Amino acid sequence: MNNYDSLVVVGAQWGDEGKGKVIDFLAAKANVVARFQGGDNAGHTVVYGANIFKLHHIPSGILYPDCLSLLGNGIVINPLVLLNELLELEKRGISTKNLRISEKAHLIMVYHQAYDQANEELLGDQKIGTTGRGIGPAYADKALRRGLRAIDLADIKVFKERLSQILPLQNHLLKSAYGHKGYDLDQLVEMYRPAVEKLAPLVVDTSRLLADSFSKDKKILFEGAQGALLDIDHGTYPFVTSSSTVAAAAGSGSGLGPQYTSQVLGVMKAYTTRVGEGPFPSEDHGEAGELLRNRGAEFGTTTGRPRRCGWFDAVIARYATRINGLTGLAITKLDVLSGLETLNVAVNYRCDNNLTREFPAGMVKLEKCKPVYEAFPGWHEDLSGVRTMKDLPAAARHYLEALENTIEVPIELISVGPDRTQTIVRPGSFLAGWYGN
Ligand code: GDP
Ligand code: IMO
Ligand code: MG
Repeated sequence: MNNYDSLVVVGAQWGDEGKGKVIDFLAAKANVVARFQGGDNAGHTVVYGANIFKLHHIPSGILYPDCLSLLGNGIVINPLVLLNELLELEKRGISTKNLRISEKAHLIMVYHQAYDQANEELLGDQKIGTTGRGIGPAYADKALRRGLRAIDLADIKVFKERLSQILPLQNHLLKSAYGHKGYDLDQLVEMYRPAVEKLAPLVVDTSRLLADSFSKDKKILFEGAQGALLDIDHGTYPFVTSSSTVAAAAGSGSGLGPQYTSQVLGVMKAYTTRVGEGPFPSEDHGEAGELLRNRGAEFGTTTGRPRRCGWFDAVIARYATRINGLTGLAITKLDVLSGLETLNVAVNYRCDNNLTREFPAGMVKLEKCKPVYEAFPGWHEDLSGVRTMKDLPAAARHYLEALENTIEVPIELISVGPDRTQTIVRPGSFLAGWYGN
């Protein structure tokens, strides 16, 4: 293994940072792209030319026909959603022959979606604002040791046998605690039959595949979903997702040790967004937030919900850097900031009259924190056609330098539009090495 063989790419805010775009760009030089956590709550958008792909389960390397796409053991998979996604891609002429699924990945079943939606209703105004995809209940069943796994898709008989062992308990819970009528075994088996038939041959030991790829000096990208502040341990609990979204999960979620994942690229928007409920100190409820939402087309890829928008928050950026061990940054959507007179960056928080650089853990404290902003001059130039650092307006370069100085990690990549080509790789950076430059 040499230094340029593997790279973990993670979201370093509240998700939707542009991971799909960045992974697709880097996958041009990768042999394998592996997802290691999350499920179809993810919505990763890839754009090249007039083609727009919105991927939920399938890694963003799928658009390169020679690239192996892996769904690791840390993922939760909805077989019905994955089947549709595969068929949709095939209809559009994208080969899916290189997709493989870990035997140990857990399945999201219809009853998980039912629990997710019912839990949100029962929580009322305390709801998490989940994507309603059954993510939390599927991970809960994994921890409760009553989940179905991809290995149970081996054939329809195995699937029926395993489902018949689990369904009575699920039906009991659904009926007694949620007033739901429950599910019929035979109807469920028929509903899942096409997915079982299509997915069964793809289920393999992905840990072995990855280890073999490393031993053959292949280049591996680990694709994170969601973002640091949605991490089950380190995020704004309870307003988080149900998996570990940080870089360390790339190892456990794909069946490898940590030595394979030494380079970690954190993707951050040049401002901040969040979908769903929960604290967001630098949220802007005024004109700037509205402008960012409209110019940045900030509407959820998975649910279509308007994203909450605000200023870049260096407190969360530094925190995400620490909990991920980021070695480089990808700053996306810089183009969206063009035209703003002044750009605010939250450099500290003021909590109960004390200044802090640290992100607080508890909701009570966090709700009392107000960001302390430093203002930077904006620029008016359109950045969408810029392809080198030196062609960026001086004010944009100054803004990026300020982010880099406060986060203390080098910016390796800058994105100035959704398209693959609208990307700047910093000369001399690790990513330039990835590209062999
Ligand atoms: P992900 O979940 O992190 O992959 O991000 P999403 O795909 O959910 O959301 C990012 C959105 O911003 C998508 O619509 C992308 O096409 C778009 N996007 C990514 N990078 C840029 C950029 O640099 N500029 C602009 N204007 N749009 C971008
Ligand atoms: P990508 O990979 C943004 C948010 C939901 C909700 C919380 C819990 O596209 O960045 P869940 O359905 O996971 O139980 O919802 O997490 N959320 C995301 N927000 N991007 C995502 O994924 C998200 N996946 C989950 O909005 O607040
Ligand atoms: Mg997304």
